[in-house]
Parts: sequence; C-alpha cells; structure tokens
Amino acid sequence: MIGVLVSGQGTNLQALLDAGLPVVAVASNNTKAPALDRAARAGIEAGAFPTVEFDSRERRDEELAEWLAERGVELVVLAGFMQLLTAPFLERFPGRILNVHPSLLPAFPGAQAVEDALAHGVKVTGATVHFVDDGVDTGPIVLQEAVAVRNGDTAETLHGRIQEVEHRLLPAAVRLFLEGKLSSPVAHA
Ligand code: GAR
Repeated sequence: MIGVLVSGQGTNLQALLDAGLPVVAVASNNTKAPALDRAARAGIEAGAFPTVEFDSRERRDEELAEWLAERGVELVVLAGFMQLLTAPFLERFPGRILNVHPSLLPAFPGAQAVEDALAHGVKVTGATVHFVDDGVDTGPIVLQEAVAVRNGDTAETLHGRIQEVEHRLLPAAVRLFLEGKLSSPVAHA
C-alpha cells in the first residue's frame, strides 16, 4: 500500500490514482495544496502536516511517518513534495521512498530544476524517478527519460512536457516496486 506526499497541484498523484495503484493515504506540508482536494475527491484519507505546527522538523516527520505507518503504508512516494525529509522519517521507511524529479539527475537537483536547466542552456533534460536517501535528489536512480528543450521554451512549457513523461514514469516505477522487481538499495543507519 502506498502513501503519497505532495506540496502542490498533485498531477503526479492523479497519475498514480488513474493507474489504479493502491494509494491509501496522502499527506502534505501545505494545508492549501490542491493535491489534497484531489485525494479527497478520490475518497482517500488526506492529512496536512505544516511544519509550523510542530516543535521541529524532526518531530513533524516522526508524526507524519507514524500517521502513514498506521494506515498500512509500505511505500512512500514523493510526488511534488518540496521539503527534505529528516532522519526520523527516512529511518522509518528505509529503502521504501521514491521521488519524482524534473531533470536528468544528477544534473539540476533542488527545487528549481526546470529553471536551472533552461538557464544552463541544455538541449536535453528530462524526468527521473529515484530512491530517496539523505541527500538532495541524490538517491539511486530507478527510471529516467529524456525530454528535448525547444527553441522558445519557457519554464512552463518545458515543465509541462516533462510532467507528461513523469505521469508515465512514476506509475511504472511504483508498479515495479510493488511487483518486487526493484531492490531497495538505500540503507539508513
Ligand atoms: C513535478 O514536476 C515534480 O517533478 C516536481 O514538482 C512537480 C509537482 O507537480 N518536484 C520537484 O521539483 C522536487 N524537487 P505535481 O504536484 O503536479 O505532481
């Protein structure tokens, strides 16, 4: 069973739902994330865990991990979740967290991947699904696909084409994990 963490629109969450994958819980750091409405419309339990409501990021992550575990979550998918997870969360789901990122990692990690790729003038960028470790977008890569940059692309137009790829790649990677076809190469102390 899958728990999905979101911060924004939730189009990747929607792709997981449309693929019929067993999403049982959706959580966000952002109480106003439209992704939470998508979860509600799909009848999936949704929770908001804004960091301001907790003593520390670690405490928030402990409670978030506990909330997911109580709902039977075995795999956590970061689908546009824009915060870094701390050790208490990573230790609760060792090798069982996937992230989707809008670049060909290890190029352009971080929160501005599409803008950074455009600013660099690359001709090809893409989408990556990878296991999460304690770095910023550094974990072992599961699936990747290239997207060509076109003349006149803006961050919006390019991100739109990258997201079309993400919406295929992320459900495919999740399916591989659920079928036991992916090893979990991330170990946490
Ligand atoms: C996605 O494109 C995802 O790759 C990106 O945020 C977008 C969320 O869209 N994530 C990152 O940049 C993480 N570093 P969505 O909310 O519509 O799925």
